[in-house]
Amino acid sequence: MGIKIENLFYTYGKKASNSTLALNDVSFAINDNDFVAIVGETGSGKSTLAQCLNALIIPDKGQVVVDDIVVSYKNRKSKKMRDLRKRVGLVFQFPEYQLFEETVEKDVAFGVKNFGVKNEEALEEAHKALAQVGLDESYYKRPPFELSGGERRKVAIAGILAIKPDIIIFDEPTVGFDPASAKELMGLIVEMHKHGKTIIVITHDMDLVNEYAQKVFMLENGKLAFEGTPSELFLHVQNYDRLDIPKVIKLALALKEKGMDIDINSVRSIDDLIEAINCWRNKHE
Ligand SMILES: Nc1ncnc2c1ncn2[C@@H]1O[C@H](COP(=O)(O)OP(=O)(O)OP(=O)(O)O)[C@@H](O)[C@H]1O
Ligand SMILES: [Mg+2]
Repeated sequence: MGIKIENLFYTYGKKASNSTLALNDVSFAINDNDFVAIVGETGSGKSTLAQCLNALIIPDKGQVVVDDIVVSYKNRKSKKMRDLRKRVGLVFQFPEYQLFEETVEKDVAFGVKNFGVKNEEALEEAHKALAQVGLDESYYKRPPFELSGGERRKVAIAGILAIKPDIIIFDEPTVGFDPASAKELMGLIVEMHKHGKTIIVITHDMDLVNEYAQKVFMLENGKLAFEGTPSELFLHVQNYDRLDIPKVIKLALALKEKGMDIDINSVRSIDDLIEAINCWRNKHE
């Protein structure tokens, strides 16, 4: 089933003289349990697209189809938009700024209660979600503002997990994190993927794309400019200086040019590159 994005158009400030066409005829599909990345320069339309995927923004033209739910201008008032928000969870950029309840557990339970779940059951779901992000019961009664930035982001993510969406969109999940915290967070996202969730990560971090994404979509001025695997993207954009090709890929490409027949598709990390070099050496010694 998955997600089908069909000829989406969206303009901000339609009545203003300085309106912005943020999505310009975007179409692509994401399969169930895919792990995909959406990339593109600042202002290319990534966050606008993310908000269309869970009907926070209703497209002017075109539609998003998630299973039997169709997000379109015509359906903008349909009760199904609510069902969709349960199906597709969106973790905003810097979600930790949106915590507002007096305790961690209340904050995580808030979204669940919004879907009509009774308080006790909502707290139970909140506790399960907190465990999934690695926060134990010592956190339940703490005020969110006392936590570190990383812990707060985990609380915000637990708030989405507690709703049990099948599809989770992360808008710049690792921004502002040190490498160890970023890796830990990506580890959590990988776990969610292993448990069957469809994962959509919006990011400017090409190392992250290379290491984790099965497929990548690039937006440019509101249009879909590329879709393919990460390595296909890096080959495609080699001379495109606004996208930072991972160093490990640059090195692999340089070695390939010197005559080492390295399969760029297999190079997701430094360890993969070392393995590819060792493999080449074994063949040629
Ligand atoms: N609320 C808004 N009102 C008016 N214009 C907006 C609004 N939000 C976004 N835009 C404009 O729409 C275009 C797409 O913005 P969007 O936030 O989707 O880009 P993005 O790819 O997420 O960028 P970034 O990488 O900086 O997060 C930009 O030109 C932006 O200035
Ligand atoms: Mg954005």
